Amino acid sequence: MKIAVTGANGQLGTDLCRALHDFDVIPLTHADVEITSVVSVREVMMKHKPAVIINTAAFVRVDDCEDEQDKAFSVNCLGARNVAVVAQELGAKLVHISTDYVFGGETEPRTTPYTEFDTPVPLSVYGRSKLAGENLARHFCLRHFIVRASALFGVAGSSGKGGNFIETMLRLVEERDELRVVNDQVFSPTYTADLARKIAQLMTGDYYGIFHVTNSGACSWYEFTVQIFKLTGITTPIVPITSDQYPQKARRPSYSVLDNSHLRLLGMDDMRPWQEALEDYLAARGHIA
Ligand SMILES: NC(=O)c1ccc[n+]([C@@H]2O[C@H](COP(=O)([O-])OP(=O)(O)OC[C@H]3O[C@@H](n4cnc5c(N)ncnc54)[C@H](OP(=O)(O)O)[C@@H]3O)[C@@H](O)[C@H]2O)c1
Repeated sequence: MKIAVTGANGQLGTDLCRALHDFDVIPLTHADVEITSVVSVREVMMKHKPAVIINTAAFVRVDDCEDEQDKAFSVNCLGARNVAVVAQELGAKLVHISTDYVFGGETEPRTTPYTEFDTPVPLSVYGRSKLAGENLARHFCLRHFIVRASALFGVAGSSGKGGNFIETMLRLVEERDELRVVNDQVFSPTYTADLARKIAQLMTGDYYGIFHVTNSGACSWYEFTVQIFKLTGITTPIVPITSDQYPQKARRPSYSVLDNSHLRLLGMDDMRPWQEALEDYLAARGHIA
C-alpha cells in the first residue's frame, strides 16, 4: 500500500516515515509539493496514486501567524483543502494533522480535558487557521482522520520552529544561571514517535472522524522543564512565571489538555505517560544513557 506523507522531513513527518516502514512510503518535502497549490498537489499525487495521504505540512510558527495571517490561512486552511480535494479524487484516505490550539478561547477557562465532541473555540490566528483547515478537510474528503496532537517533541525537531521546546531549554541552560518558565499553560506533551505509531495503526482501519492523540497525563511548560532537568541531572534553578510575565504575540490556551476519547471508546488508547515518552526521547537524542 502506498502512503504519501507531506512535510516528510519535518518533526512528525520524519517519525511517520520511520513508523510506516512496512508500507511503500512516498516522502514529500516542501521541495516536492506545494500544498497551497492544488495543481502541485494534484500533479504529485496523481503520479504516485497513494492509498493514504498524511498531511503534516503546516505553517507552525504560532506567533508569526499573527503577523502573517494570509500565509497562515493559505497553508493551514487552503492547503488542507487542496490535499483533501485530491485525496477524494483519488479515492484515498486522508490523515490530516491538527492541534490542541483549536481550543482554549471560551470565556470560562476550561479545567477538564477536551474530547473530540467538544466545540473548538480557538484563541489565535494559528488556531483559527488550523480549525478552518480541519473543517475543509472533513468537507472535501469523505474518508478522513483528523488527528489533533499537542506540544510535539521529536528527534528531528520542528523544521518550522527551528527545534523544539526540550532542545531550547537544554540550550538556554548553557547560557543562563536561572530559567524562568511559564506555569499557567497546561497541555499534554506528545512524542512524535508515539504519535506516528498510532497514526500508522489508525489509518489502516475505517474508523473515520476526529481523533485526539496525545501522550497521557498533563503538565505546564514549567513542570515539563522540571522533568527534563530531573532526567538529565541539571540543577539550574527554574522559576515558575505567568504568561503575563512572558508576553508573546499569540495568545495561548491556559488549558488545552486533550482527552483521547475516540481512541478510548475504540479500545485503542494505549498512549503512554508523557514522562516515559520524554525519557525515551532524551535517550534517543543522546542526552541520557
Ligand atoms: N509542533 C507542535 O508542537 C505541534 C503541536 C500540535 C500540532 N502540530 C501539528 O503537527 C503537524 C506537524 O508539525 P511539526 O512540528 O512536524 O512541524 P514541522 O517540523 O515544521 O514540519 C512541517 C513541514 O511542513 C512543510 N511545509 C510547510 N509549508 C508547506 C507548504 N506550503 N507546502 C508543503 N510543505 C510545507 C515544512 O517544510 P519547510 O520547513 O521546508 O517549509 C515542514 O517539513 C502540523 O500540522 C502542526 O500544525 C504541531
